Amino acid sequence: TVQGHTEAFLVTRRGVRFLACPLESKLLPTAPIAGQKPGTSGLRKKTKVFMGKNYLANFVQSTFDALAQTNAPVQGGTLVVSGDGRFYNPQAIQIILQIAVAAGVKRIWVGKDGLLSTPAVSAVIREREGGFKPFGAFILTASHNPGGITEDFGIKYNCENGGPAPESLTNAIHKNTETIQQLHMAAQFPTISLSQAATHTIGDVTVEVFDATEDHVSLLQKVFAMDKLKALIGREGGFSFKYDSMSGVQGVYARRVFLELLGADDWSLLNATPKEDFGGPKSASHGHADPNLKNAVELIQAMGIKSDGRKVENSGPFPDFGAAADGDADRNMICGTKFFVTPSDSVAIITRFAQDCIPFFAGGLKGCARSMPTSCALDRVAKDLNVPCFEVPTGWKFFGNLMDSASTYGKTDYTPFICGEESFGTGSNHVREKDGMWAVLAWLSILAHHNPDPAAELVGVEDIVTEHWKKYGRNYYVRYDYEGVEKAAAEEMMARMAADGRACCDGVDLGNFELATADMFEYHDPVDGSVSKNQGIRFIFTDGSRIVFRLSGTGVDGATIRLYLEKYVDPTGSLDMYAPEVVRPLAEIALKLSLLAEKTGRDEPSVIT
Ligand code: G6P
Ligand code: ZN
Repeated sequence: TVQGHTEAFLVTRRGVRFLACPLESKLLPTAPIAGQKPGTSGLRKKTKVFMGKNYLANFVQSTFDALAQTNAPVQGGTLVVSGDGRFYNPQAIQIILQIAVAAGVKRIWVGKDGLLSTPAVSAVIREREGGFKPFGAFILTASHNPGGITEDFGIKYNCENGGPAPESLTNAIHKNTETIQQLHMAAQFPTISLSQAATHTIGDVTVEVFDATEDHVSLLQKVFAMDKLKALIGREGGFSFKYDSMSGVQGVYARRVFLELLGADDWSLLNATPKEDFGGPKSASHGHADPNLKNAVELIQAMGIKSDGRKVENSGPFPDFGAAADGDADRNMICGTKFFVTPSDSVAIITRFAQDCIPFFAGGLKGCARSMPTSCALDRVAKDLNVPCFEVPTGWKFFGNLMDSASTYGKTDYTPFICGEESFGTGSNHVREKDGMWAVLAWLSILAHHNPDPAAELVGVEDIVTEHWKKYGRNYYVRYDYEGVEKAAAEEMMARMAADGRACCDGVDLGNFELATADMFEYHDPVDGSVSKNQGIRFIFTDGSRIVFRLSGTGVDGATIRLYLEKYVDPTGSLDMYAPEVVRPLAEIALKLSLLAEKTGRDEPSVIT
C-alpha cells in the first residue's frame, strides 16, 4: 500500500483501489477566552460572542481535550451534532465537524437542516439503529432564550446515556478553556450540505444527515398508545386543540406527530416553521420561544386565557386543549379551555394517571422526582402510589442519575420514572432530557382515558385538574422573577439568608405562618454520592407552605433572582381562588426577610408566572 495524506490506495493484482484513510488535520494556535463556564444547561452567550474568533472552536476543542481524559470512545467513534435552528446553527455545525474529525471521530450524525430537538438528540444517542453507539452529542441551543445575531446562542454537550454532561466533565471542559493553546481541525474538510437526508463520505469519515423526527418519534410511538390519541383527536363528540411550536425546532416534530400520525389538521398548529430568530421582536412572543403565560401569547389568546392566568370574559368557542414548546422543544406548557395548568400540577397529574393510560408505565411506576423549587403536589401523589419521590436541585442532570441508578450504578431501579420541574420541564426515563412532546402526549393520553365514550360531552383539562385538587388539595404556586439584577447585589442578598435564615425572620411579622425550617438546600445524590451545595434557600412553614429563593443558572446578563411561593390548601379548603392573591402574604414576608428591595433596588418583579 502507498499512504497519501487525504487518500490511500491499494495496489492489488487487479488494479488500484482507493481506500478510505485518515484525513489530514491542521494545528491552529489559539488562546484562552475568559468566561467559558457552562451553566445549568451548557454555555450560553450573545451570538456575536460565539461568532468571535475561535470562541466556539475553543469550547469544542476543550470538550474533546476533556473527553480524552475519560474513557469515552472518541477514536473511531460516533458523534451527534445538531441544534434548535437558531442563527449561527449551520456555521457552528461545520466548525464542530472539523474539530470532531481531527479528534478521531469517524461517524457524525446530523439532523436534516441541522435540526434536532434536545429530547430528540437524547433519543438519537440512545436509540438510533445501525450498530454505532454515539459517545456523545453537541446540541446547539440556548433553549428558550431569544435567537438571532443580536440575541443568544449556546452549546451543550450530552454523554452516551443521552443526558447532559455531569459537572465533573463540564468543570474539566471549563478548566481546559482557561489553558487552551491549540485547535486541531480537519484540513480541507468540505462544507457538508445539510438540506437533504444523505450520507457523505469524506476519506474514512461518514457524515450522515437524516430526518430529524425518525428516532424520537418512533420511540414515542412505543411509549404511547397512539391509536387511542388518534381516536381522541377524531372523536365524534368533537375535540379541538392548538399546539404552538413558537417558531422553534418543534415545528418539525409537531407536523410529523399531529398532522401525519394523529390525523389533526393544519388549524391545530401555530408557528410550526422553525425560524432562526423564533419570529424575532415583531412576533407575538417577541422572539422569546418560552412557553409560559408571558411569552406564549398566541396560544393563551387562542385558549381564552389572560396573561395573568385568569379567564377571558367572552364565551368562545375555545379549543379543548392547548400546549406550547420552547426553542429546543424540551419544555412544555399545558392548557385547557380558559385554563392554565401549572407545571407543578402537571407532573403530579401525569404521575397519577401514567400507569392507567401510558403503555410505557403499564407495568407500574417505580419512582418519581421534582426539583426543589417545584411545588410539593407530586409528593402527595407519590405517597398515594407508594413510590419514592426525590427532591433534587434544579437541573435535569440530577434526574438522569436516578434513572440510571440500576443500569450504571447497580443500585435500586427507579424506572419507569417520571419527573418534572416548575420551569416547564416534564419527562421520563424514555430519554435523559425533559421532553416537550412527551408531556403533551401524556396529557392527550390522560384526556383519552377520561373520555372513553367518543360521543359523550368531553371531560376536559379543567375538570381533571379540579378533581385532582379535590382529592389531594391544592398547592397554590407562583414564581416571581427579578431579572437583570446586579450580580454582586443578588449574591449578597443570598449570602445573608444562607448565613442564617432564621435570623432573617427575626422581627418579621409572619402572620399565620409558623417557620419550621430555614436552610440552604444541599443535595446528596443517593446514586453517585456526589454533593451539590448552595442549591437555593428554603423557608418552610408548619402548614407546608414554602418560600424559596434561588439565582437562575441560565441567564446571560447580570443575575436573575427567582422567588418561588407555595401555599398548600387541603381538600376541605377553598380550591378555586386566584393563585397570585393566595400567595401574596407569603410574597410580602419573603420581601421583608430577604431585604430584596433594599439590597437590589428592585420593588417589582419583572415577571410573575
Ligand atoms: C434549564 C434546565 C432545567 C432547569 C432550568 C432552570 O431549563 O434544563 O432543568 O430547571 O434550566 O433555569 P434557571 O434559570 O431557573 O436556572
Ligand atoms: Zn429548552
